[in-house]
Amino acid sequence: MHTFFAHTQLVPVPILARFWHKCRTLQFGVFVTNLTCILLSTIINIVDTNQLLFGDNLELLAGIESKSVTLIYIDPPFNTGKVQSRAINKMKKSKNGTHKGYLDEMYEKTEIAKYSYPDSFDDFIDFLIPRLKEAKRLLTDDGTLYLHLDYREVHYAKVVADAIFGRENFLNEIIWAYDYGAKSKQKWPAKHDNILVYVKDINKYYFNSSKVDREPYMAPSLVTAEKAKRGKLPTDVWWHTIVSPTGKEKTGYPTQKPVAILRRIINASSEKGDLVLDFFAGSGTTGIVAAELGRSFICIDKNPEAIAIMKQRFDEAGVEYEIKEKYFAIPR
Ligand SMILES: C[S@@+](CC[C@H](N)C(=O)[O-])C[C@H]1O[C@@H](n2cnc3c(N)ncnc32)[C@H](O)[C@@H]1O
Repeated sequence: MHTFFAHTQLVPVPILARFWHKCRTLQFGVFVTNLTCILLSTIINIVDTNQLLFGDNLELLAGIESKSVTLIYIDPPFNTGKVQSRAINKMKKSKNGTHKGYLDEMYEKTEIAKYSYPDSFDDFIDFLIPRLKEAKRLLTDDGTLYLHLDYREVHYAKVVADAIFGRENFLNEIIWAYDYGAKSKQKWPAKHDNILVYVKDINKYYFNSSKVDREPYMAPSLVTAEKAKRGKLPTDVWWHTIVSPTGKEKTGYPTQKPVAILRRIINASSEKGDLVLDFFAGSGTTGIVAAELGRSFICIDKNPEAIAIMKQRFDEAGVEYEIKEKYFAIPR
């Protein structure tokens, strides 16, 4: 089946996803429709639908069917004016080493890989606008966009996203707060990112808070024991640590986002079988979580190092996917 679809390109994911979406939203309640939905969702789950696309996202997005994606998460470069880079180092015990480790043993550090991408734009908003327009075109009527930025560009992005999506379709600004790394003494240390959430249509969007992980109450003594045990629904301020530089989750790709943040987003704003898109995919956090939660995904990046990391990450997790340089174009 995998080979058949890879060669014929006749039954592209978005068409199946669109049928599935229509079945879901029309709510016929007729036995035949339900049966068709079950069959289609089974096909979607059986077919290896995940796509890893290498190239500039604007060009690749043009080949994706309109209204085929339920959830888009994007984490573009933040326009820091720097090259974002991370090195992967190997530590080896050595008497001549310069790094002190466990039990005061000395270690020698060798750089085994370095990953980077440029993060400097003459006009970031000009770069963002056509990509936001594509995001809107691709979303299903109940679809949602999460746009992850920080203080540098978020306010300008809000203004243009309001214009593209309609101010009435702005759902939330999520503050992701963390507390790690050097802290300025000259100003309040900036330790949060901003995630703007837009829906395609404020009257139709999908949001399921019952699927979202719960948090401990700040003052559990003020609520019943039962409530304290259950925890509370997260608000629009999310406290979560960054990906630990020494933890298992780390891929070595710069600015990798935590799996738990993506899990919350994907659980709330999509259902099993839906198609999730990340067109600034980096290390593939969106793809890995989408697969874990039974969604299909399209991950796009123009950096060959990101593609290599994603391949390794998906392979290690046993996630099936196809790599394409261009998404198969569907006549519109
Ligand atoms: C902030 S990183 C994404 C990190 C990702 N969320 C993760 O968890 O690893 C931004 C990514 O956007 C990619 N990128 C920048 N411009 C792009 C473009 N025009 N087309 C496709 N990818 C692009 C960069 O190569 C980089 O990998």
